Amino acid sequence: MNLTQNESLHPFNTFGLKQSAKLFGRFDDVDSLIGFIETDFLQDRSLLVLGGGSNILLTQDFDGVVLKNEITGIQVVKENVDHVWVSVGAGENWHQFVLYAIENGWAGVENLSLIPGTVGAAPMQNIGAYGVEIKEVFNSLEAVALKDGSRHMFTAHDCEFGYRESIFKTSAKGEYIITAVNFRLNKKPTFNTSYGAIADTLSEMGVEELSIKAVSDAVIKIRQSKLPDPMEIGNAGSFFKNPTIPKDQFGNLKTEFVDMPSYEVGEGNTKVLAGWLIEQCGWKGFREGDIGVHSKQALVLVNYGQGKGRDIYKLALAIQASVMQKFGISIVPEVNVV
Ligand code: EPU
Repeated sequence: MNLTQNESLHPFNTFGLKQSAKLFGRFDDVDSLIGFIETDFLQDRSLLVLGGGSNILLTQDFDGVVLKNEITGIQVVKENVDHVWVSVGAGENWHQFVLYAIENGWAGVENLSLIPGTVGAAPMQNIGAYGVEIKEVFNSLEAVALKDGSRHMFTAHDCEFGYRESIFKTSAKGEYIITAVNFRLNKKPTFNTSYGAIADTLSEMGVEELSIKAVSDAVIKIRQSKLPDPMEIGNAGSFFKNPTIPKDQFGNLKTEFVDMPSYEVGEGNTKVLAGWLIEQCGWKGFREGDIGVHSKQALVLVNYGQGKGRDIYKLALAIQASVMQKFGISIVPEVNVV
C-alpha cells in the first residue's frame, strides 16, 4: 500500500474540515489490507479508518495513519422466492447501493435512502431512518482483525446492535476493519410508511400505488427538505442521539413542558427528541462565524465553509450544557469526535 504524507482530509469528511493526516493510504481489496497489517507498520501508530467520512468530527490533524476503505463490488450470493442475499463491498457508497437494490426490486433499504456514507460504516452505527434500522436487513459482515490480519465473520447477534450502536463502537472499537456486508433483502416488499412524514409525503406526491421506488422518493424528498446537503453545507447528519430517560423523569418534565414530544421504548423508559430539546434552548439557526446549528433541524451542526472542528466541538459542549441545565437531560454525540 502506498502511503502519502500530510494529506489533506478535506475531501474525505462531510463536515468539510481542513485537517490533515500524517500518513494516508487507500485499499481496494482484502488481500492488500491483510498484507499491510502483516507488515506490522501499524504497530505503535494510531489508526483511523475512513469510509465516507460522514460520521466524524475532526478536531485536530491526525498524527497517525488514515486508511480509506475503497473495497467495492455487489454480488448476489443466493436467492429463493422470497429473499435475495447480497454481499456488498464495504467501500461502496450507501445510497448507490440503495438505488441498485431498488432497480433490482429488492426491498428493505428504501427507507434508508440518501444516508451519506459507505456500506461498511452502516452497521458500525446501525444506521436508521424513518422507522427502519439496518439490523432488520443485515445478515452478516466480514472483517479483518487489526492485531494479526485474520479474517472474521460477524452475525447480527455478534454485532450487538442497539440504537446507533454496535460492538464496533463499544467493546470491539478499533479492533477490526469491516470489508463486506451481507444483506438479506426481500423480493416481496412489506412497506414501512408508519413514520408520519412518509405517508403525508406520498399523498402529497400523488402516489396511489405503493412501490419501493415511491417510498425511496418520499424519503429523499423529506431528507432534502430538512437536512443540509454535505456538498453544499458541511455536516455529519444528526450530531447527537435521541436520549432515553426514565418514565418518572419524563412525567415530571411533561407537567412543565406540555408539548414535549416523546415515544415509549419499554422497560419504564421514554425516548425524547434531542432536536426539540436543542430548539427549546434557542439554538436552532444559531450561527457564529462559519459554524452553527442548522435552521431546519436543530440536531444537525454545520460548517458553512471555513469552520474549525474544535469550534464545532465547543459548540456541541455548550449545547449539551444548556440542555442539561434546562431539562436535566444528558445528550451524547452520535458522531465520532477525533
Ligand atoms: N424536532 C424539533 N426541532 C428540530 C428537530 C426535531 O422539535 O429542530 C422534533 C420534532 O418534534 C420532530 C421530531 O423531533 O417531529 C423528529 O424529527 P426528525 O424526524 O427530523 O427526526 P430526529 O429524531 O430528529 C432521527 C435520526 C435521523 C433520521 C430521522 C428520521 C437520530 C439521532 N437521528 O432524527 O438520523 O434521519 O430520525 O428517521 O436518531 C442521523 O443519524 O444522522 C440522522 C439524520
